[in-house]
Amino acid sequence: MEWKKEGFFLKSVSSNKELKKMVGLRAADLVKDGMKIGIGTGSTVAFFIEELGRRVKEEGLRIQGVPTSLGTRLLCLEQGIPLMDVTRCDHLDLTIDGADEIDPSLNAIKGGGAAHTSEKIIASMADQFILIADKTKMVSSLCRKFPLPVEVIPAALSFAKKQIRLLGGIPEIRDAARKDGPVITDNGNLILDIKFPHPPNDLELLDAQLKKIPGLLETGLFLGIAKKALIGYQDTVEVVSPKG
Ligand code: A5P
Repeated sequence: MEWKKEGFFLKSVSSNKELKKMVGLRAADLVKDGMKIGIGTGSTVAFFIEELGRRVKEEGLRIQGVPTSLGTRLLCLEQGIPLMDVTRCDHLDLTIDGADEIDPSLNAIKGGGAAHTSEKIIASMADQFILIADKTKMVSSLCRKFPLPVEVIPAALSFAKKQIRLLGGIPEIRDAARKDGPVITDNGNLILDIKFPHPPNDLELLDAQLKKIPGLLETGLFLGIAKKALIGYQDTVEVVSPKG
């Protein structure tokens, strides 16, 4: 199902499954024996997890995974992937994660699954952070189509909304799909999805301005973190490096 809200799109977990599977499988090939792996969240990463589980079971691959969300933790346990708690970890060999939008410099928007705070921590501690996505995630500029998610602690909700409006954004609290009320993150917080009628060009500045708001924990902007992306096109996986 694709949700369309006033010209902005929220993510669809059931679209482009073949392309997501192709990149998920290719990413699992990059994992080597003995590695500590950060494991992202979402429908693309789910294929990566499945293949990683197969390699653990059938090839005896020895790895330790660090999951970015409760959802990912549960999937990994189902697949028999050995896990390590993030609180015991300050370095990873590789982190693989999906994205909601990716620009040609491999800056990305993440957080469509409300997991971006842990995802950013786990991306940042890896020697290599690789994005995996189907072709529809590639855009020429961020924040034109997909709203930018930010995680806020509940006490900051009203003030954060006011400050975001002053920055030119239109914040909307994310409602849960199969629960009455808002999405509650794994950290017990709320998500605001921000639309920008006049999308900002300076994303570093926007990120800094948003993070100055007290109680705004983290933004879904992943700027300059990914050095490689695997993008699924009809018959092929393109390995993309940052441009510019
Ligand atoms: C989770 O919070 C997100 O950052 C996901 O990684 C992102 O939404 C991509 O998910 P899909 O692979 O389901 O599109």
